[in-house]
Amino acid sequence: MANRSALINVMVGAVQKAAKGLVRDFGEVEQLQVSKKGPADFVSTADKKAERTLMKELQRVRPKFGLLMEEGGEIPGADTSNRWLVDPLDGTTNFLHGIPHFCISVALERDGEPFAGVVYEPVGDQLFWAEKGAGAYLNGRRLRVSARRHMDEGLFATGIPFKGVRDHPAFLAELEGVMAVSAGVRRFGSAALDLAYVAAGRYDGYWETGLSPWDIAAGIVLVREAGGFVTTLDGTDKMLKTGSILAANDNLHTPLRKVLHDAHRKGAPNKGA
Ligand code: IPD
Ligand code: CA
Ligand code: CA
Repeated sequence: MANRSALINVMVGAVQKAAKGLVRDFGEVEQLQVSKKGPADFVSTADKKAERTLMKELQRVRPKFGLLMEEGGEIPGADTSNRWLVDPLDGTTNFLHGIPHFCISVALERDGEPFAGVVYEPVGDQLFWAEKGAGAYLNGRRLRVSARRHMDEGLFATGIPFKGVRDHPAFLAELEGVMAVSAGVRRFGSAALDLAYVAAGRYDGYWETGLSPWDIAAGIVLVREAGGFVTTLDGTDKMLKTGSILAANDNLHTPLRKVLHDAHRKGAPNKGA
């Protein structure tokens, strides 16, 4: 069983405390699907409640650390080197529709870099955690990215844009490029879990743009500590600043980046072609 550091232990404690309420609320949502008003307000309340629990717990255990939370925004800390990046519910649309694929993601950013991360998927009780230099784990089992070496055996995840979000033609070009050379593409609806699945070797790679720091910071540590590579689609290390991410095992990061780069050069597929 992996020895968890005091830092990971306090992160896990906060996440599992918030998860108790989230799982209870998820049970409610399944009933609300048929209600006239629908569950949107209820989910928003559940999201904010989980964030309040996380904020309270994280401030209790590390009172000087800053916080950047999806719902509550930035709370600067006396310790300017350490900042929590908190997504109390990643996979909100799944949660809203009663789809049991969502998680809580908490990362510690140290001197501007992702240092430690916990991603907890409470319905399946999958606790992913990683700390810089200490490895990546799932429920205590050490994680390693997949060993697949060729794009045509690779399974890749992404985020499909939707109404009013991101550049659809650019995404269609990317999707066309990856479809043409891979064993498949998946869109499960939680960026943090997409990264955790790359770290676990379930996906061979993942790419998306338009993300926020709290979506990806924990997953970046997981993939790196599992032996994978993470950059922006352009190949820089500015994922948190740009919201662009390309994570893959050590063999397929470069080939995937080339497919996406060539897709952008080629442009969107012709409509009706
Ligand atoms: C979203 C999920 C989704 C991704 C979106 C994110 P949320 O986070 O991670 O997979 O495609 O860009 O905003 O809204 O469920 O916390
Ligand atoms: Ca999110
Ligand atoms: Ca969220």
